[in-house]
Amino acid sequence: MDAKISIRDLTKVFYKKESRVTALEGINLDIADGEFACLVGPSGCGKTTLLRILADLETPSSGSFTIARAKEDRPLQSMVFQERGVIPWLTVEGNVSFGLKMRRVPAAVIKERTAYYLEKVGLERFAKLYPRELSGGMKQRVSIARAFANDPEILLMDEPFAALDEQNKFILQEELLNIWAETKKTVLFITHSIDEALLLSDRILLMSAQPGRIVKEKRIELPRPRNMEQVRADPVMAEQFVEVWNHLQEEVQRSRI
Ligand SMILES: Nc1ncnc2c1ncn2[C@@H]1O[C@H](COP(=O)(O)OP(=O)(O)O)[C@@H](O)[C@H]1O
Ligand SMILES: [Mg+2]
Repeated sequence: MDAKISIRDLTKVFYKKESRVTALEGINLDIADGEFACLVGPSGCGKTTLLRILADLETPSSGSFTIARAKEDRPLQSMVFQERGVIPWLTVEGNVSFGLKMRRVPAAVIKERTAYYLEKVGLERFAKLYPRELSGGMKQRVSIARAFANDPEILLMDEPFAALDEQNKFILQEELLNIWAETKKTVLFITHSIDEALLLSDRILLMSAQPGRIVKEKRIELPRPRNMEQVRADPVMAEQFVEVWNHLQEEVQRSRI
């Protein structure tokens, strides 16, 4: 399969007054069209920085990346963050349709697509509410609906469920998998939850402590559709869990030396 995202020899150095921080070093990565890849690594290893670079919010110090374009009129990427992903003065519906309106997509298409994704995340009844009237889980649903409604070439998700309670997290993970299965978008997803990575991923990319490098990858072969009970019950997944766990422990120790 063709690579949708290609990253070559990418390095990012942040300069502060007297010091420099190498956040990312020698990142080489190909993500296939339609793949769901999770980045897992210790805190501060450069995961957010890598996503921000792919979102054009930050520039690499050296190296490069490309995102393959399939359609001219699409945005290259949409991002979903842990919080602050919704515009407070727009309704649920206004948030979901915002990107499409900015791109002057025909009104009928906006209406149809907004309704479709609101239904997918179970927010049809809440279309006219404002973010302040929503729970944390509902706000994340709005962010996800908006990101998919935008129809980007790729989706970048930075710990979108980290602030949610367990129950809500499971529900949103399954909703996300359902939408992804229908749209076949390429997703690069950051998480520090190993369970979440096992549930969602085609491939888990393990990063080292700072400077962040991709040091290992794991293919997750568990058949889809998946749910968390299957992940927890599957002996191969249990082994994968322990391997990722050990990797993270080692990297956290290393970063403290
Ligand atoms: N704008 C910035 N200026 C200076 N240093 C930064 C900036 N953004 C991130 N860093 C540093 O780069 C490293 C990686 O940060 P980040 O990508 O946020 O890590 P992660 O998301 O894996 O926790 C950290 O040491 C952080 O302090
Ligand atoms: Mg981060």
